[in-house]
Amino acid sequence: MSAKVELFRADQLLSRFGYCSRREAPSWVKRGRVSCAGGVVLDPRLRIDPSQTSVDDLPVEFPLGVLVAFHKPVGYVCSHDEGDSETIYDLLPSSMIGRIPAVTTVGRLDKDTSGLLLITDDGALVHRWSSPKKHVAKVYEVTCEQPIPPACTEIFASGKLILRSETEPCLPAQLTITGEHTASITLVEGRYHQVKRMLASQGCTVTALHRTQIGNLKLGELPVGEWKVITPVDVDGTP
Ligand code: URA
Repeated sequence: MSAKVELFRADQLLSRFGYCSRREAPSWVKRGRVSCAGGVVLDPRLRIDPSQTSVDDLPVEFPLGVLVAFHKPVGYVCSHDEGDSETIYDLLPSSMIGRIPAVTTVGRLDKDTSGLLLITDDGALVHRWSSPKKHVAKVYEVTCEQPIPPACTEIFASGKLILRSETEPCLPAQLTITGEHTASITLVEGRYHQVKRMLASQGCTVTALHRTQIGNLKLGELPVGEWKVITPVDVDGTP
């Protein structure tokens, strides 16, 4: 998210921030629904600062763009449109999902996985944290049907494990066994169903998977289904 203030034409601000369609926006402005720095804006073309703007007397939400941590519940998919499944976007407010560009998740969690997801409208942040070259650490708590063999720790750390139908070995991953059927695993990449497939390669079926951390950011006490505004610094220490 850029620290530089971006000005928007009043009508474009309304449509870009999800208040109304482009066609409706000029009449919203002309009817006096927009004010900036305390004064009513009546010219749809006037360029205004979203962080100083109110619509119908309520300050514009996410004036500098969206970046939130979200606690994904089990049972929701991360795609925008997934047939009959409920999507995580059903759980977000219209002020977040009506925007242009649309918000998206930084990577995805499976429908049956819970935990920390990052949601943003900033494509540069998506790239910064999900590009395979960036190696942002992600921590998961995993439960398996079978006892987890202690040898998994060394196998996962070796950087030599090749998953079925792949040719490139997984990057070294840190597995800490926390109980007979439970472990914490830290990955620095995000392959398709990676945790489940790594454990399956050792004869273990994952029955529960929960992400607790991305970079420096921990899920902490954020209640399930809720979100909170964060900054890039919270994730990787860089503004
Ligand atoms: N690994 C998985 O198998 N599933 C997820 O949702 C995330 C990581």
